[in-house]
Amino acid sequence: MMDPAKAKIRFGILGLGMAGGMMVPALANHARTVISGAADLNPDLRARFGRDHDVEVNDNAQALACRDDIDALYIATPHQFHMEHAILAAEHGKHLIVEKPMALSLSDCDAMIAAARRNRVTLIVGHTHSFDPAIRHICQLAAADTFGLLAMIAMWNYTDFMYRPRRPEELDTAKGGGILFNQLPHQVDTARLLAGSPVRSVRAMTGILDPRRPTEGCAMVFLEFISGAAATLVYSGYDRFDSDEMHSWVAASGRRKSPSHGAARKAFEALKGEADELRLRSDRYGYGGNANFQGLEAEYQAHFGSLIATYQRADLRPSPKGILVYSDEGVQEILLPHAGNGRTLLLDEFCAAAVDGTPAAHDGQFARETVEACLAIRDSALQRREIMLRP
Ligand SMILES: NC(=O)c1ccc[n+]([C@@H]2O[C@H](COP(=O)([O-])OP(=O)(O)OC[C@H]3O[C@@H](n4cnc5c(N)ncnc54)[C@H](O)[C@@H]3O)[C@@H](O)[C@H]2O)c1
Repeated sequence: MMDPAKAKIRFGILGLGMAGGMMVPALANHARTVISGAADLNPDLRARFGRDHDVEVNDNAQALACRDDIDALYIATPHQFHMEHAILAAEHGKHLIVEKPMALSLSDCDAMIAAARRNRVTLIVGHTHSFDPAIRHICQLAAADTFGLLAMIAMWNYTDFMYRPRRPEELDTAKGGGILFNQLPHQVDTARLLAGSPVRSVRAMTGILDPRRPTEGCAMVFLEFISGAAATLVYSGYDRFDSDEMHSWVAASGRRKSPSHGAARKAFEALKGEADELRLRSDRYGYGGNANFQGLEAEYQAHFGSLIATYQRADLRPSPKGILVYSDEGVQEILLPHAGNGRTLLLDEFCAAAVDGTPAAHDGQFARETVEACLAIRDSALQRREIMLRP
């Protein structure tokens, strides 16, 4: 455990792409963390980051993990490197936050959990939308038994995910491509957190609707929990209907957006091959790119599509400003103080675990069970049957 007297946890960001860039404002503004370094293979991203931050930037993971001026790594490299980089961090005595999905197999998750335990470092998997403030608040209400038992959760998300610029492996399911390992972990993690109970069984159907993007782009999932609650998760990434319409045109980031149906698909159709797509991905989503992700500046609550949680005495639904509660007393809105995404809450949870020794909700074991459910979604769809995880 770290010395609580140490001023701030000194973070190294491993991977300066979309996820790494989105975490920068949260790490820079959190009371208990400071950015002390970064690493990426891409020299342009290193140069952009180096211009903005007066810290050493490395060109490989090993060099970052070895540094004495770093206490923790935020691992935001592509899925297939999560296990290798998590073990590297742990073996060098660094606490770690790993991006979702934790890994692509349960044996990789086990190896990561074992490495963290062996080296007595904190391992948290985030940021998933299960850290969003509205989800946290619903969990707190449920823990206080405000509305009785949870019966069911309905989640819908319709996005343009499939037509955003992609790396080749993001279009190959065997390498973690498509929505199964990239988008569904948000829904599964959130549903599991709200249910507060292990998944008993999974039934799913998935679809590949565009042969030019040959990996799963839509899914319909039914989860049964040991507690007796159930969840349906619906996701489509084909840039037709956009479920932000049902959220008053507030985007997942908590920023206001304008309808732009089909814009991502048209931009994809204008691409001139794989190299063009890779360049566009880095230009747009890489650190300092033109997508300019700054979640902390959001005016409204972050979300991951529509969600309705049905308890014995109320239905709860995250809204742009907080949570809508539909009960016998009518409709009430609970306003939440902090707009934006849950990265600050993620860092709160991480610091409490790494410095104060408080058990984390989103630890390696919790994240492993999300991976387990995502693998079961894939298998259920392939085998056309219910997969029993805990009969
Ligand atoms: N939680 C979220 O909201 C969220 C959002 C985006 C991505 N993610 C997750 O973050 C991870 C990264 O996704 P992304 O969209 O940021 O990808 P990305 O391609 O935009 O960024 C990955 C970066 O890692 C670098 N990299 C790759 N291999 C490396 C290595 N061996 N050493 C050092 N750097 C290396 C690349 O050069 C690239 O800049 C994925 O697992 C994804 O699921 C999470």
